[in-house]
Amino acid sequence: MFSAARASTRLSRVAASYAQRMAMSTLKEEAPKRTPRLRKLKRVIYGTALVGATYTGWSMYRNRNPAEQMAFDPSKKTLVLLGTGWGSTTMLKNLDTDNYNVVVVSPRNYFLFTPLLPSCTVGTIENRSIMEPVRLLMRHKSREVKFYEAECTDIDAERKELTLVRRANSEDSKGDQEPVKINYDYLVVGVGGTVNTFGTPGVEENACFLKEMGDARKIRRRLMDSIESAAFADVSDAERDRLLHMVVVGGGPTGIEYAGELHDFLQDDLSQWYPELAKKIQITLIEALPNVLPAFDKKLIDYTQSTFKENQITILTRTMVKEVKEKSFIVQNPDGTRSDIPYGLLVWATGIKAQPVVDRIRAQFAQVQTNGRGLLVDEYLRVKGARDIWAVGDCALSGYAPLAQVASQQGKWLARRLNSLATQAVREGKTDADVFSLIEEKSRPFKYSSQGSLAYIGSEKAIADLPFFNRNITAGGVATFWFWKSAYVNELFSLRNSTLVVSDWVKRFFFGRDISRE
Ligand code: FAD
Ligand code: NAI
Repeated sequence: MFSAARASTRLSRVAASYAQRMAMSTLKEEAPKRTPRLRKLKRVIYGTALVGATYTGWSMYRNRNPAEQMAFDPSKKTLVLLGTGWGSTTMLKNLDTDNYNVVVVSPRNYFLFTPLLPSCTVGTIENRSIMEPVRLLMRHKSREVKFYEAECTDIDAERKELTLVRRANSEDSKGDQEPVKINYDYLVVGVGGTVNTFGTPGVEENACFLKEMGDARKIRRRLMDSIESAAFADVSDAERDRLLHMVVVGGGPTGIEYAGELHDFLQDDLSQWYPELAKKIQITLIEALPNVLPAFDKKLIDYTQSTFKENQITILTRTMVKEVKEKSFIVQNPDGTRSDIPYGLLVWATGIKAQPVVDRIRAQFAQVQTNGRGLLVDEYLRVKGARDIWAVGDCALSGYAPLAQVASQQGKWLARRLNSLATQAVREGKTDADVFSLIEEKSRPFKYSSQGSLAYIGSEKAIADLPFFNRNITAGGVATFWFWKSAYVNELFSLRNSTLVVSDWVKRFFFGRDISRE
């Protein structure tokens, strides 16, 4: 019995040690199978991180340390670019300056990423994060590029001469300076548009626009001013309601995005820091047509309208603003009657019209330039009736909508055509090639390829209308908002801009938006 028990214990010990050895050997056998895969994955991750970090570091170093540039070459033609917006800046970015002496003229010495401008009105993004000084781009071209911070006010197409005026646009400059004349061989007009008030009385004097960075700054200041005024001692109920009535005129994408940002500011920040006042703030959006966002799909229009309803933003459609006074505005209601509505802040976002300099250019070719909305161009973006003048972007009437996408595709297309025509001419020994005529002979016409439309509508929701093969797909909601964010980070002009915008978003998430009034 004893020995049987001992034998069975020994047997179980042997079995246990055998099982242990088997387990270890299995482990040893399996280990080499898993390790190489894990190691490979680790190596890929480390390798990618290293390449990414090296590339980022190298890009940053290169940005801060531009190489020497070639000087202007008197044997090359002078190409003048008007504007530093989407069209002209994309053109400059893609232009090979070996081929031309390039001069840029614009009253703005930076490029502005307009799709994120509504976010600057409430401090979701800080202003400088979406501005890129054009000189950073110029300093990285192979040949020097000259920049004149001035407005082109006139053109003499016969003499190929431009009139430039430096405007008094800051406290530092005392007044408009004497006009200066410069000459061009080739001219690219990319001056965009200016706000269209449709001649509505009082708009220029009393409303805020949302087109340039200065406009966003003004809106932010006026908004905080209205709120602090409403919080002041002894303000009557009626006056408080007036000050806290925020109005947006125009239900296009600009008006919708601004109203969405304003709602977020109210919801996330003002409700914390002005708990009583915030409950009384009202947002109203006024649109003359039967619905907002006329260029978007019907499903997205309905989605936007229902999101605004949830967010307590009042939409008044078929209602037209007829006059804006200092403290109230007059609307024509759908039934034809008129009402006088008090407001604290009014943002006017009703689209654009031609810049004054475009009218000056049109006047030189009055017989063919018959459309007051801009410069009629042919399929090679050449200004009809003119010689050696192209137009890109919102100022060019090319049959496409006034969009950043259109302007940048036109700028890129024109730069590439001019690069290849000049290179080809040099190869053929023709130093004085007429690229204005050759473009038609040697290129295919410009064709716009739509990448779809995106718009932010507030409370972390966006809408998207995207081309998919021969049809469009539409989407709206929180996932689309993340798509919207990633698309814009990707499209920002530089690594510097993308880094600043992402850090603004992170900063807002942790600390909220800044409510101080500058
Ligand atoms: P702009 O970008 O307007 O640039 C014009 C340039 O010309 C400026 O540098 C200006 O200072 C300069 N200039 C003006 N007058 C003169 C002069 N006399 N002489 C010399 N220079 C001059 N489009 C989209 O596709 N997607 C979007 O999400 C989007 N969001 C937008 C959001 C807002 C708030 C706004 C206002 C517009 C938005 N747009 C969007 C439209 C887009 O910004 C325009 O279509 C685009 O800016 C047009 O580019 P552009 O180069 O023609 O003109
Ligand atoms: P818009 O021209 O698209 O819309 C202006 C709206 O204002 C129109 O619907 C018009 O009916 C309305 N309106 C005009 N006068 C009015 C009045 N007196 N009272 C009430 N309503 C009035 O202008 P917006 O939004 O400034 O856009 C300009 C261009 O920029 C467009 O091409 C637009 O597509 C583009 N854009 C695109 C964005 C995007 O894709 N996310 C964002 C912002 C602009």
